[in-house]
Amino acid sequence: MNNQPIGIFDSGVGGLSVLREIRALLPAEDLVYIADSAHVPYGNKSPSYIEARARVLSEFLIGEGVKAIVVACNTATAAAVASLRADFAVPIVGMEPAVKPAVSASRNGVVGVLATVGTLASAKFAALLERYQGDAKIIVQPCPGLVEQVELGDLTGAHTRMLVHRFVTPLIDRGADTLVLGCTHYPFLRDLIQAEAGADVTLVDTGQAVARQLVRKLTAMDGLCEARVGGEQFWTSGEAAALAKALSVLWSADKPMQRLPLRYC
Ligand code: DGL
Repeated sequence: MNNQPIGIFDSGVGGLSVLREIRALLPAEDLVYIADSAHVPYGNKSPSYIEARARVLSEFLIGEGVKAIVVACNTATAAAVASLRADFAVPIVGMEPAVKPAVSASRNGVVGVLATVGTLASAKFAALLERYQGDAKIIVQPCPGLVEQVELGDLTGAHTRMLVHRFVTPLIDRGADTLVLGCTHYPFLRDLIQAEAGADVTLVDTGQAVARQLVRKLTAMDGLCEARVGGEQFWTSGEAAALAKALSVLWSADKPMQRLPLRYC
């Protein structure tokens, strides 16, 4: 048994879509979440920049005494998970676009992947494509600008709808019957994406699978906490006030965000 908290980070608020799945499976655990908002979006940054940020955030979380770290970001996982695992002793759970379940779910063998430029350009994603592209036609669509809309807490506005239309239409036009939400920000746009894609199209994301993997890791090391009600702490490298709106839309209104100490910003 281990009552230490679990650390989770993302470039911004997208990882809250993973946090809610973790909370659903692990109601007793204390969760420490970091939005690296001073550096969002990661999707247009170099792998070395993202790796440096992932390292800084992991160091902060280790300082907070976490027993495991979840990289709640596809882009950061692609850029940094291997080096984090090499350098930090705690278990590190990463994530990748849900190509495998999407290929299984597809009825017509055409799968579209919505993700950041960085994720789609990564060697990790190239390896994933290589593995599954014999089983289905996989079409990729980078979505620059979408993360920024979720960061603003704008899930339904005209600009957000225009971007969703621009990114989803080409995939549907090419016959995709299954779409992968390959960035943790996109599950917050699920309704909009579903409406644009049509009711027959299946949407798949990785949040639940990540939460299950975390449970497996903690169980294997006898690392689950005792029965109690867990709490959440929210940290940001950006302006706490600026994120309050997004947090109130995406999580709950009464949860304050704290600013990270300067050396982690
Ligand atoms: N939410 C992240 C992901 O899953 C990063 C998005 C970004 O900052 O560009 O890829």
